Amino acid sequence: MTNPFRYGKVVSGEYFTDREGELTEIESDVLNGQDLVVISPRRYGKTSLVLQAAEHLRKRDVLVAYIDLFRSPAKDKLAERLAAAIHEGLIPTHERMLQRAADFFSSLPVRPKIVLKPDGSYSFEFDASPVTRDIDRTIEGLLEILAKVASDRKRRVALILDEFQEVMSIDPALPGVMRSIFQNQNDVSHVFLGSKRHLMESLFSHKSEALYRMAKPVRLREIAEEDFSAFIGERFRASGRRIVPEAIGRILAITERHPHDTQELCYFAWAIADAEGVAVTPEVVEQALSQVLDAEDARCKELWDKLSPHRRLVLIALAIGNGEGVFSQAYRLKNGLGPASTVQKSLKYLIQEDIVEASPKGKYRLSDTFLRKWVAQLASS
Ligand SMILES: Nc1ncnc2c1ncn2[C@@H]1O[C@H](COP(=O)(O)OP(=O)(O)O)[C@@H](O)[C@H]1O
Ligand SMILES: [Mg+2]
Repeated sequence: MTNPFRYGKVVSGEYFTDREGELTEIESDVLNGQDLVVISPRRYGKTSLVLQAAEHLRKRDVLVAYIDLFRSPAKDKLAERLAAAIHEGLIPTHERMLQRAADFFSSLPVRPKIVLKPDGSYSFEFDASPVTRDIDRTIEGLLEILAKVASDRKRRVALILDEFQEVMSIDPALPGVMRSIFQNQNDVSHVFLGSKRHLMESLFSHKSEALYRMAKPVRLREIAEEDFSAFIGERFRASGRRIVPEAIGRILAITERHPHDTQELCYFAWAIADAEGVAVTPEVVEQALSQVLDAEDARCKELWDKLSPHRRLVLIALAIGNGEGVFSQAYRLKNGLGPASTVQKSLKYLIQEDIVEASPKGKYRLSDTFLRKWVAQLASS
């Protein structure tokens, strides 16, 4: 029997649960040509959610192109990935022949070299050396193709830009370029995904305000308690292993319904049940948690080693307390944090690094369940 839980990669099908509300919202927005920006901490399920929506949208005749900006560190790479995404998502399969593809991109200032891969798919290569302006024009040309396809084929088009915050390291001028092209593409929905919340917020609110007004924010939360517990119960049932209801409650209390961390803890709990032929009880959950912490130890240590002593103190305070009123004198005294301005500085860094999340109400917490546990354990030992 294979483990019915999965973490780390994009999940779909039986590994994906709920998000009904978000799916409906995203799908109907895309059908309306509305631009969206989906923001959440890392590993909350943005990519899984949007790809799931894309799968549904394709069935409703929407042409979807997907690109991950993490994998496009420079402009020529971005152009290559864009060309591939457009080719894959926007050109009908029967037209995906070499010649057609070449025709398709023939209007571009720099034409891609089309390489047929052994598996029958194509990749696109732009010479890294062309004059910068040419590669800029090529990226613009590629982005313009979206609207052309929508009107030629009379279809709705969606472009998904994952890890969009990376755009700033590719070229800070890109958001402006995109804005000027995208705002005239009425039949194209642009979906921006990003995990570095502060970067995304500033990208969409200050640096290029038009992007912000253009895109409707969708904030992804944890998965609802009842959906997640039904999912966990069902996955155990389907795989012929047992878990008692209190253990499900315990898992969700530990992870606070964090999608990735819940699947990870379930994965370990299931493995114990499988190996030892026992039902998962709250005690087994504790055993699984300690295994997860062992598995995560190296990653947590590495992160910890990079932090200054004050930042560590702040993390300890957040991991053992509730993260409210952190600037109050009582809180700072109790946790040995020194002046409020220093706390402010450390928090700013920790938020930038996506280690700490701030709620609008001024509550701070470690977004990563296991780092939180790891730090708390360290503080108590
Ligand atoms: N809807 C979901 N149902 C169950 N697990 C999910 C769901 N969404 C995400 N996960 C879990 O979270 C992990 C990270 O998902 P991913 O889509 O890569 O997040 P993000 O793009 O926000 O970083 C997945 O590997 C999976 O374990
Ligand atoms: Mg992702």
